[in-house]
Amino acid sequence: MSARSLEGRHIVLGITGGIAAYKSVYLLRLLVKRGAEVQVVMTPSAKEFITPVTLSSLSGKPVVSEFFTANTGEWHSHVDLGLWADLMVVAPATASTLGKMAHGIADNMLVTTYLSAKEHVMVAPAMDLDMFRSPSTARNLSLLAGDGVEIIEPGSGELASGLTGKGRMAEPEEIVERVERFFSKSGSLAGKRILITAGPTFENIDPVRFIGNYSSGKMGFALADAAASRGAEVALVTGPVSLRELHPAVRRIDVVSARDMLARCLEEFPGCDCAILAAAVADYAPAVVADRKIKREKEEEMVVRLVRNPDIAATLGSMKESRTLVGFALETDNERENALSKMERKNLDMIVLNSLRDPEAGFMKDTNKIDIISRDGQTCSFPAKSKRMVAEDILDAVFPPERGQMMMRR
Ligand code: PMT
Repeated sequence: MSARSLEGRHIVLGITGGIAAYKSVYLLRLLVKRGAEVQVVMTPSAKEFITPVTLSSLSGKPVVSEFFTANTGEWHSHVDLGLWADLMVVAPATASTLGKMAHGIADNMLVTTYLSAKEHVMVAPAMDLDMFRSPSTARNLSLLAGDGVEIIEPGSGELASGLTGKGRMAEPEEIVERVERFFSKSGSLAGKRILITAGPTFENIDPVRFIGNYSSGKMGFALADAAASRGAEVALVTGPVSLRELHPAVRRIDVVSARDMLARCLEEFPGCDCAILAAAVADYAPAVVADRKIKREKEEEMVVRLVRNPDIAATLGSMKESRTLVGFALETDNERENALSKMERKNLDMIVLNSLRDPEAGFMKDTNKIDIISRDGQTCSFPAKSKRMVAEDILDAVFPPERGQMMMRR
């Protein structure tokens, strides 16, 4: 991105009352440095954490916080601000503000501006780990995602409370990268239809037991969100996961077993331009599924006979014609050789390699560390990033901005 990548862009930066508000000062500085015109809107409690003077000095505009300026009685129009903004970013977004935004409780300038915003909105939640994990926060985030708000996931680490866990506001650099990508990529996949698979498959043994794996679905969901944010129509075929937040342009199709996943992929694939297969599909399933709970027997051993599942990637590979097919390879050893052989065997155009030997990669993590290998063996290695940013790198590789341009960006 160029140094003035946000030249001429109008951004409303909403700041709420949390300790992470100190990071918003740096975020504001980065946005302004890149050429954006930024209007800061603070909640009353945000002013307990940082002063409006600091923010107005950096933005060159008086901070808006109240509906009226006390001494002049001047009224601040949230409607005008909503119309002026090309983008609104709320960082940090506290649990309280997320709740108000999700439910339209317009009791301060920030939430009324949000309700008036005509363009895209991003929120960067920041709170203590238990607040972030609470069903109420999860529900509010899910509602906001359903309304089209882009959620910039918090990171994990030491929190202001001294506890360690998920809840730290994303770093200002990551937020700025998301902003830059939004302006450079929004609408770039309009008219494209993309099939994405996510999560594990569960292969039933009996009505209460199954063979499964540790996939959380985070990687596939991040891909779906990133593709939809770029304007694509996305069909997300997902195994059993607990994730709920989804961009409204994502059509979610829930499945359980590898056979179910194959059936739904076969329905979707012909209408798609591209499929990205991030699901961890069970290679084998029990040959027989008991229709009643299997009882504990006297014998020390029990044998469950397994039969091979269909290979979804290979099946789609055999019928892909001009469609682009991207697979993942999750490896523990001989990573590159195994990935190359999977790409060949399944007739993939590209394979995303992640290794369980990398502590920041793989199942359940919020981050991933990938190599993207194209059919001619060209490889691009990326540092560990949040899964959402990894998803952006994968989309950049699959849909390079211009034909003939270097396929991958480091
Ligand atoms: O869900 P998360 O917790 O975020 O974790 C993400 C992830 C680790 C699951 C993801 O990044 C990943 O690596 N997904 C692929 C895991 C896997 O099963 O890889 P594989 O090497 O076994 O399979 C290779 C490819 O073939 C994959 O694209 C897989 O979807 C596909 N496959 C595999 C078996 C099968 N029967 N059918 C398939 O389509």
